Amino acid sequence: MREKLELLQKKRAEADLGGGAERIAAQHDKGKMTARERLDVLLDAGTFVELDRFVTHRSTDFGLADEKYLGDGVVTGYGRIEGRLVYVFAQDFTVFGGSLSEAHAEKICKVMDLALKNGAPVIGLNDSGGARIQEGVASLGGYADIFLRNTLASGVVPQISAILGPCAGGAVYSPAITDFVFMVRGISYMFVTGPSVVKTVTHEEVDFEGLGGADVHGATSGVAHFVHASELEALAAIRKLVSFIPSNNLDDPPIRATADPADRRDEELLEVVPDEPTKAYDMHDVIRRVVDDGEFLEVHRDFAGNLLVGFARLGGRPVGVIANQPAVLAGVLDINASLKGARFIRFCDAFNIPLVTFEDVPGFLPGVAQEHGGIIKHGAKLLFAYCEATVPKLTVITRKAYGGAYDVMNSKHVRGDYNVAWPTAEIAVMGPKGAVEILYKDDATEERETEYREKFAHPYLAAARGYVDDIIDPRDTRPRLIDALATLATKRDRNPPKKHGNIPL
Ligand code: HXC
Repeated sequence: MREKLELLQKKRAEADLGGGAERIAAQHDKGKMTARERLDVLLDAGTFVELDRFVTHRSTDFGLADEKYLGDGVVTGYGRIEGRLVYVFAQDFTVFGGSLSEAHAEKICKVMDLALKNGAPVIGLNDSGGARIQEGVASLGGYADIFLRNTLASGVVPQISAILGPCAGGAVYSPAITDFVFMVRGISYMFVTGPSVVKTVTHEEVDFEGLGGADVHGATSGVAHFVHASELEALAAIRKLVSFIPSNNLDDPPIRATADPADRRDEELLEVVPDEPTKAYDMHDVIRRVVDDGEFLEVHRDFAGNLLVGFARLGGRPVGVIANQPAVLAGVLDINASLKGARFIRFCDAFNIPLVTFEDVPGFLPGVAQEHGGIIKHGAKLLFAYCEATVPKLTVITRKAYGGAYDVMNSKHVRGDYNVAWPTAEIAVMGPKGAVEILYKDDATEERETEYREKFAHPYLAAARGYVDDIIDPRDTRPRLIDALATLATKRDRNPPKKHGNIPL
């Protein structure tokens, strides 16, 4: 027995070393952690249970028969985050550059299947040179097996991807299907084809960072939901994200006790909206003053800043916040904002997270670029997402609710459950200036503008029809929302039976 135990210990130590001490040193030299170090940071201390530690590839081509590493380039298993079960895989760049073989893919599929069966999130830490070149189509098949599981798990268990190294070619499509993508400046990059192919095909000269680095995907493409300065920061942020979301689509989001009183009124909310209707203000100030402890985990922070989305808690209950941001492009809805909002709403709806909308929107962005870019179909995604959502839906109109954007931003008509306006709200087809110019053309005088403003630029016409449930003192926003959420905890609503809708993609 003792001898056999010694052999086991030797083999376990060999697996722990991955591609060997030299390659681990090279990984550290690049400023990167190893797969196991990453899992240690991600998971509650001592909770990681490894599966398939002794798996090796089965390839015999290109001299691979004699070059095998226990684990085959990916560390898989399960562990806990704040005591809650999560399934994990972490690609090990020290073994064949973390490239994906048939066996490597089978290990990932195994934890994905377990996550689906047991109703727990899947967190993938990606650091890979892509398809294992020596394995050819078996490796491509492995990717497709993962893509299928990503798709089937979508909306059933949360899926989170961290890109902590290269992620290129078709390999990008697994993270792209998952719910949230984290990237780290300087070490992560994602692209379908690398800089050299780009140069050959389009003659564009671009480096890795400029083509698919963290800031490009965080601010320009929107592929990354979170961008961080270091791996440690990114892994801590994943833990925080998990604290807001349920483990699966049948669970409720985790409630956390808070010392922030449910009946807290906030005097400062009286001062946030400027008297001058065209003056900007920062909607973050409203959100932070209303939610528990001012904590707002912003998603897509650097992308489409004219719409804010993210997680917060109200009276301990997690909520998804969607808010127009008057400080960026006057809070107008454009293509990117619509995409950002629609995807976030659909995540929340799939995972039973109530939606709280703060509205101050002048409408959809006019212009040739937006029209030609398809603002019609992209804006329709946001509308579709709000319409189909059956979770509790609350709206606070702080100022403008103009035109189609009034309908879209969780109006009563699209099944808003509790819609309130501040006295500063202006709910109308358009702003006074634009309206008077269309109605009176050359006779668009200031008096006529004032007349229009008095007639339409307030919340009382909407309230007279019951389109807003109440006009409230801004200081009461937090208690009102918390109380409404409590009444909606037992909400029952469903869409007509169907295979699935046809969201305008
Ligand atoms: C097998 C690979 C590999 C791969 C890297 N390695 N990529 N082995 N298959 N795809 C090995 C290297 O041989 C090397 O082995 C070790 O990993 C580290 O690689 P380096 O090149 O030394 O590291 P670095 O300089 O950091 O460069 C990393 C890299 C580069 C940029 C990822 O390795 C690279 O370009 N690899 C090929 C990327 C690629 O084209 N993959 C296929 C994409 S297509 P040793 O023994 O020296 O440590 C794809 C299709 C997916 O993935 C399809 C899904 C549908």
